[in-house]
Amino acid sequence: MTTTTAFSPRALMSLLFNGSKAVDVVTTALSVGLLDALEPGPVSLRELADRFEMQPLRLYKFLDCLESLGFLDRDEPSDDINQTTYRAVPGLCAAAAAAVGPAAIERDRDTYPWQRLHGRLAESLRGEVSMADDDFCWPPKTDEQMESFERSMSVGLGPVIETFAQHADRLWPGRRRFLDVGGGAGTLAAHVLGDAPDLRADVYNLPAVAPLVEETRKQSAHPDRLGFVGGDFFAEPLPTGYDALAFVRVLHDWPTPDARRLVEKAYDALPPGGLLLICEEFRTLDRLAVQFFWSYFLIGVDSSVSRLREVDFYTALLAEIGFTDIQILPGGWELVVAQKPGRPA
Ligand SMILES: C[S@@+](CC[C@H](N)C(=O)[O-])C[C@H]1O[C@@H](n2cnc3c(N)ncnc32)[C@H](O)[C@@H]1O
Repeated sequence: MTTTTAFSPRALMSLLFNGSKAVDVVTTALSVGLLDALEPGPVSLRELADRFEMQPLRLYKFLDCLESLGFLDRDEPSDDINQTTYRAVPGLCAAAAAAVGPAAIERDRDTYPWQRLHGRLAESLRGEVSMADDDFCWPPKTDEQMESFERSMSVGLGPVIETFAQHADRLWPGRRRFLDVGGGAGTLAAHVLGDAPDLRADVYNLPAVAPLVEETRKQSAHPDRLGFVGGDFFAEPLPTGYDALAFVRVLHDWPTPDARRLVEKAYDALPPGGLLLICEEFRTLDRLAVQFFWSYFLIGVDSSVSRLREVDFYTALLAEIGFTDIQILPGGWELVVAQKPGRPA
């Protein structure tokens, strides 16, 4: 049985150079249904060739391409290729759908004007080439930029929605009002309401985002419990009256002093016993890889610091500011929860 191993720099360079062909292989395997057959595996070349009406020798080479990406375990018990069996690594179907499927996050990212920097990175690194404000501005400036950015954010919310749902029993009992700070178009807040019948959720965001949240509210299963509060979190204190606040993919947008200021504002706004939730792509090599597009694109956007920080940064910050009961709840992305000390009124 062959097993997947980490790539050497030399091997990775060949895969990178042939990246568009690799994407072609994975897209084909996903769209014809091969990945659905391979993931439960093991399945023999003969079975696959019969089921998908493909020629065994051609399929053997195609599967070598998939294996070279580290996506398959293979067992070749004899010289007869038909008896070779394959199994895809767990999670491959979902990963392929997320990257190259019809509603893939990477396809959405690809619509941003990254070509402005392509081939001009050296000039960009020297500050001679940047993303123009009309192309992309952080925070978004025009209504059009705002809408396309918030929609992109909603496309990538899957792991956050799952983690919040997984821990709903821990988070929401006894809580009445939740404020999602910098809560995009309200997609997460709308999902949370499905798991928390006694909760009312508001999205706090720049006023220009109001129409997008209103659209989400109208389409939500709980329109009467979803609201919007317009504001600028740097220009004013965070609203009070909420017993749970969240920063989801907000703090990494800002330099450390600003991120700290936002967490302090959350502390001030919460009542004793109030809950603060922080969720984002806490820095690991894997998440840095998934974030590759933005790391590249934002080279040309100085107003976005794009600081993926380790989870320990946030747990330490929360403790310094005075939060207690700080926990890291597991999930696709971990969820950091912390409490403002004191008893609820
Ligand atoms: C990276 S997005 C994350 C959106 C959402 N939480 C998610 O994960 O999909 C950052 C959010 O912060 C909001 N934001 C940026 N600057 C803000 C400010 N000064 N006051 C309030 N919200 C702000 C943006 O409009 C956007 O919704």
